[in-house]
Amino acid sequence: MDTVGIVGAGQMGSGIAEVVAVAGVRAVVHEPEPGPLHASEERITASLAKAVDRGKLDPRDASRAAERIVYTTRLDDLAQCQLVVEAVTEDRTIKCEVFRTLDARLPPDVILASNTSSIPITTLAQATSRPDRVLGLHFFSPVPVMALVEIVPGYATCHGVIEATEAFARQLGKHAIRSKDRAGFIVNLLLIPYLVGAVHLYDAGYATRENIDEAMTLGCGHPMGPLALCDFIGLDVIGGICACLYEEYGRDEFAAPPLLRRMVAAGALGRKAGRGFYEYAPARPVALASR
Ligand SMILES: NC(=O)c1ccc[n+]([C@@H]2O[C@H](COP(=O)([O-])OP(=O)(O)OC[C@H]3O[C@@H](n4cnc5c(N)ncnc54)[C@H](O)[C@@H]3O)[C@@H](O)[C@H]2O)c1
Repeated sequence: MDTVGIVGAGQMGSGIAEVVAVAGVRAVVHEPEPGPLHASEERITASLAKAVDRGKLDPRDASRAAERIVYTTRLDDLAQCQLVVEAVTEDRTIKCEVFRTLDARLPPDVILASNTSSIPITTLAQATSRPDRVLGLHFFSPVPVMALVEIVPGYATCHGVIEATEAFARQLGKHAIRSKDRAGFIVNLLLIPYLVGAVHLYDAGYATRENIDEAMTLGCGHPMGPLALCDFIGLDVIGGICACLYEEYGRDEFAAPPLLRRMVAAGALGRKAGRGFYEYAPARPVALASR
């Protein structure tokens, strides 16, 4: 791959663009409005600067990476890409519309990948006329730090597309694992019931937010407690994943807890909003890709 598109420049899209550019690949980042693109550029600049400060990236490589990223509101600028990674809001209707539009506007050989955390890939693939060239390419946050990607072939994805995408993951220095196309794939199928359980404990007044998080950082050696992790991922993202998992499996362990729903309704989305289970300042810009 020499040019890769990223549609959706939030927390994940920005991180994906950064690792693509650091790997020497041109990144074309698309959002329909300029505001999120400016925020994305600030976030990537801050993250690259942090990598330089910590001695993980040479300053010249950081500026070359920044120069490889193009920010655009024009979908047609993605036509030069061999692969486009969709990283928009975790909502099936919104994602299907994005896939329909990308399919209509991009050359038929372009591979369309989704960074969805939970939505079955075959559903997204069916919104296109090229289901054989659609698959899941699921990164983890913060993208520059986390080694894993889940590769999720849909029902009709062809072998060559899976292999090309796995080779691309290696080009980015990521470790790829394959998952069956079932809601939540591997990581979120295991992670979400744990996070949901922590929110229920907190809502029931079982312990303070700090004690719940300390239980898992100090007791189990996790780098972050579950409520801090909810804030880090984004409560709206978790709510979207819960909805998808509950629809697929119908089990209570996947249902979004009422407290989480109320927090999303109130805009307490976690770090990106400046408040969630904890408070964060300043609200924006936030260099989420801490190394
Ligand atoms: N947050 C995480 O930790 C995490 C981890 C892995 C995967 N994901 C997945 O990545 C995807 C994005 O999550 P995020 O955390 O970056 O969310 P986010 O809210 O930070 O970003 C979503 C972005 O999508 C943009 N968007 C919405 N509709 C669009 C459209 N039609 N065209 C282009 N852009 C559009 C929004 O403006 C926003 O900037 C979701 O599918 C989520 O499940 C998230």
